[in-house]
Amino acid sequence: MCGIVGYVGTQDAEPILVEGLRRLEYRGYDSAGLVTISNRRLHLRKQAGRIQDLARVLRDRPAPGDLGISHTRWATHGPANDINAHPHLGGDGTLAVVHNGVIENYAPLRRQLERDGYVFKSDTDTEVIAHLIDQNLRKSEPRETPSDWVEWTSHDLVEAVSTTLAQLKGTYGLAVVSARYPDMIVGARLGSPLVVGVGETGHFLASDPSALVGMADKVVYLQDYQLCVLTRNGWHILDQDRGRVEVALETIQWQESQTDKGNFEHYMLKEIYEQPEALENALRGRLNDADASAHFGGLNLDTQQIRRADRIILTACGTSYNAGLVGEYLIEEFARIPVEVEYASEFRYRNPPIDRNTIVLAITQSGETADTLAALRESKRKGHPTLALCNVVGSSIAREADGGVYLHAGPEIGVASTKAFTNQVAVLTMLALYLGRMRHLSSLQGTAMVRDLRALPDAVRRTLGCHETVRRIAERYCQVNNFLYLGRQYHYPVALEGALKLKEISYIHAEGYPAAEMKHGPIALVDEETPSVFLMPRGPIFDKVMSNLEEVKARGGPVIAIACEGDEEVAARADEVIYVPEVPEYLQPIISVVPLQLLAYHIALLRGCDVDKPRNLAKSVTVE
Ligand code: AGP
Repeated sequence: MCGIVGYVGTQDAEPILVEGLRRLEYRGYDSAGLVTISNRRLHLRKQAGRIQDLARVLRDRPAPGDLGISHTRWATHGPANDINAHPHLGGDGTLAVVHNGVIENYAPLRRQLERDGYVFKSDTDTEVIAHLIDQNLRKSEPRETPSDWVEWTSHDLVEAVSTTLAQLKGTYGLAVVSARYPDMIVGARLGSPLVVGVGETGHFLASDPSALVGMADKVVYLQDYQLCVLTRNGWHILDQDRGRVEVALETIQWQESQTDKGNFEHYMLKEIYEQPEALENALRGRLNDADASAHFGGLNLDTQQIRRADRIILTACGTSYNAGLVGEYLIEEFARIPVEVEYASEFRYRNPPIDRNTIVLAITQSGETADTLAALRESKRKGHPTLALCNVVGSSIAREADGGVYLHAGPEIGVASTKAFTNQVAVLTMLALYLGRMRHLSSLQGTAMVRDLRALPDAVRRTLGCHETVRRIAERYCQVNNFLYLGRQYHYPVALEGALKLKEISYIHAEGYPAAEMKHGPIALVDEETPSVFLMPRGPIFDKVMSNLEEVKARGGPVIAIACEGDEEVAARADEVIYVPEVPEYLQPIISVVPLQLLAYHIALLRGCDVDKPRNLAKSVTVE
């Protein structure tokens, strides 16, 4: 949460800092701000609200200079107002800090600094960092900007930042500038991501590489406890003791066109429509006809380790957790390995008995979710082989897991996850096939799965044909206050995902439930005003789900059914039907979720909600 951008180079910093923030706005959008330096003076502009509100301020009062840092906030300490917006100034106001993360010991530090005479303006934990750096800076002898590049590591600002970091408990990705040293930006990371970018016009800092696409083509991912120093002439990565670290630059894979909305009104709709292509990218090169199996480049586990695995724990949050629940059905059915799915936020603090042959697999779009990262680290500490299913290349989880599989969904910017979910389920299906083929799955079954998977992107393409029907249904139901989503087996996680999508972007209360479990409580919610969305594709327990549908109808509840093309039996009983292509049952979640994404999208739109940036949320949850 919170996005950081920094720039020093030959261009005006302001437009670069604002454009970077626009691309990081998905990380938080409570307030935004920036500071630039020119003529040894800081130019601070900050504002509650969106980046466009900051841009309005800048139209009246531009911020000059070719060096600066900026921030988009997701509030943790103190409400979203102008004063709590970043950057925060330290000491006499010549030093500025932007910060992503949480400083857990900020209260005692603040009390101490107040006793030392520092006056706080905001409620934030970040202001503590700014004053501490000022205090530490005052303790050291001022030195001029070094002429020799190597001397940067002993620079007094770098020293003051590093001394300050040692006083902090918690997490940070931060950037610091000072009017006394108008040529440099100091960055640091512990627990909150930060990348250094190298481009033709200068050097950059950002919370993730998507902010830099088109401006810098090479990046270095900072590791925990590392610092970086950027100037017009160079950049350095330093370790905790300010020793230089040699690192290799990596090329940014994403294109600029992938990070804009194209012809779509919202990122969410664009990303829903990108699903067929995203699936093609996830499948490409991973299906193997000769072995009737799937294969992955980066699992990094030897065959014996995989064969020995007698249990798999899938851990994740939110939509990624729902994908994990589909994965549980897939892996247990095709590989016959027992699977448990754990909320990462719970798993990280539990101490379940896990034996050596348990593989822990983290599922995450961003690769930065704090709880998922902590769950992965805890598993590694206990000696379990860890894998990650991750979308963002080079993210913390992708780097820290022993091995993993990239989702190849391309940048997902809408806060509501769509194409990452379908790619996660597709990759989990391939993983189930791969594990199954190492055990008991026959080559005939393997061949059939390879064939079915290859046909999947086109089936999703055809599914998008339901868009107009879904839009009309959304018009009919957009004013209700409660929704139920019901499905069984593979479709129970889809029901959860449909309810989550609706809740997060339209603010309508929605519950996902196993359809038969309804009778044990939630059926009390059913009335004429509460529609139930039933997932009704054909399959072994179709008749049972039909009975559950009848139970709802008998109590006057309107029913919206997702059914296979041409299913007249469902159409006869439901109030509304959305037809989707019929695919083998284990792939149906990838199809059935598409109309639910569109339904949430249109209901949110009709209710006037901000689809891409729903209230209180952020795309990447990097706090606990
Ligand atoms: C999904 O629509 C949500 N915005 C959210 O639940 C998300 O899936 C969750 O925060 C996990 O994120 P990750 O996949 O990046 O780890």
